[in-house]
Amino acid sequence: MNHSPITQTPPKPSRPQNAWSPMDSTDPIDSMNSMDPIASTDQIDLGPIDFIPLGEGRAYTFGGKTIAVFRQRDEHLFATDNACPHKAGPLADGLLGSGKVICPLHMWKIDLETGQCLSEDGAVRTYPVRAANGRILVTLTSTLTP
Ligand code: FES
Repeated sequence: MNHSPITQTPPKPSRPQNAWSPMDSTDPIDSMNSMDPIASTDQIDLGPIDFIPLGEGRAYTFGGKTIAVFRQRDEHLFATDNACPHKAGPLADGLLGSGKVICPLHMWKIDLETGQCLSEDGAVRTYPVRAANGRILVTLTSTLTP
């Protein structure tokens, strides 16, 4: 099992109670994939919300899996798998607006609430995400299984 750290997260002064650490014995996403979805809720602190500029997305990698977190200009947050369902383009680098992202490779448009592609067949997993005390908290229970 790969215990690589969460990337693109700057060092934090202290570890919040529910924060995942590469020192933890269980990788949270690997655990999610092997457990009953109802019992697999696991919230992870991804770091300061200011790390993501308004209107942009950033990718966070946990042990071989990468999710994209988007911070819309109205401060609304979304989280999805980072790989586009077309040819795995990096959705975190896409154009964000109105609850949708446009993949930077071939322009597929994806609804960030549902994970559904709007013009083609396909979908990405979405994850509940919120800000609390200036930090990004993502819950690793997928809301969609494409
Ligand atoms: S890889 Fe995203 S549209 Fe082709």
